[in-house]
Amino acid sequence: MHNGELSHADIVHLLTDEPAGLVYARADEVRQQVLGSDVHLRGLIEFSNICRNDCLYCGIRRSNKAVKRYRMDDDELVETARHAVDIGFQTIVLQSGEDLHFNQARMCRIIERIKGMDVAVTLSIGERDYSDYQAFRNAGADRYLMRIETTDVDLYHRLNPGMCWQRRHECLLMIRELGYELGSGIMVGLPSQTVESIADDLLYLKDIGVDMAGIGPFIPHPQTPLADEQGGTLEMALRTMAVMRMLMPDINIPATTAMESLHPQGRIMALKAGANVVMPNVTEGEYRRLYELYPGKICVEDTPLHCRTCIGLKIRGIGRTIGRGRGGHMRPAAKA
Ligand code: SAM
Ligand code: FES
Repeated sequence: MHNGELSHADIVHLLTDEPAGLVYARADEVRQQVLGSDVHLRGLIEFSNICRNDCLYCGIRRSNKAVKRYRMDDDELVETARHAVDIGFQTIVLQSGEDLHFNQARMCRIIERIKGMDVAVTLSIGERDYSDYQAFRNAGADRYLMRIETTDVDLYHRLNPGMCWQRRHECLLMIRELGYELGSGIMVGLPSQTVESIADDLLYLKDIGVDMAGIGPFIPHPQTPLADEQGGTLEMALRTMAVMRMLMPDINIPATTAMESLHPQGRIMALKAGANVVMPNVTEGEYRRLYELYPGKICVEDTPLHCRTCIGLKIRGIGRTIGRGRGGHMRPAAKA
């Protein structure tokens, strides 16, 4: 089962019947065989919590009037990236709500300035049109992250009013076509989401050929319409992530921050169940607290250097190594 060939029924079985410890151990073994001990670090900058969308699950949704909104200015954002590079990060991830103040020209200037620091740049700024994606790529952006969230189209439309699943899917295809490394992923534990639907999600991610798959638990935010929902469990999120590793042995899979919000060792548990990437927050000051997608966000009072040191120690503490270089997806050589 290590060659990535799993049927829908196999996946459902691994997500439900197989003992969790065995699923994690198998994924860990695949990760070790295919990718070795390296854990790649990405510095995550949350540069604006302003969003035009109103996703029901999201703490910074447009309708949440209790959020104090912020937007970094260009120099502040580039300085934040410089500090992250200074403490050793070789990939900078720029994430925000869908904030069109950061138009094509502005984003391109920011990307060019950060690329001048000789690092990989990942964007996670949501749905844009083709010309934006193309301009960002030409400006030097290397990777793009945008979760499909769920492949249950009805559920997606209930959770994301005014948005269109097909459109998001097409954005992912455009990103792929433009030669970005493509990151996508899902939330686990969404209201009425089934195990069968999660199995569909994993096969979808394989089908579109993601280079990175981010899988995290849905955590209900008290200031959203989903406040009283149960949310996802750490076990189900870890299982799903582990099965993703079996399905796509060589891709990058992060130990997501939301996992650590559910358990103090959540990211380490993820690294022992198939993950090979961690994205420490390098946002500075008050912004760390204001970018609150879900409650219990970790490290909001810490500094980037503290987080970098802390995660480095934890990684070494489980016998793993910090990856050198940019840690892009190592595609296997094309078969003759
Ligand atoms: N706006 C960009 C986008 O849509 O891709 C990037 C920011 S968006 C907030 C990043 C991810 O946070 C979403 O794709 C979603 O999976 C996750 N997220 C949002 N609310 C969440 C919640 N309550 N619990 C767990 N994850 C959440
Ligand atoms: Fe836009 Fe969450 S609703 S980032």
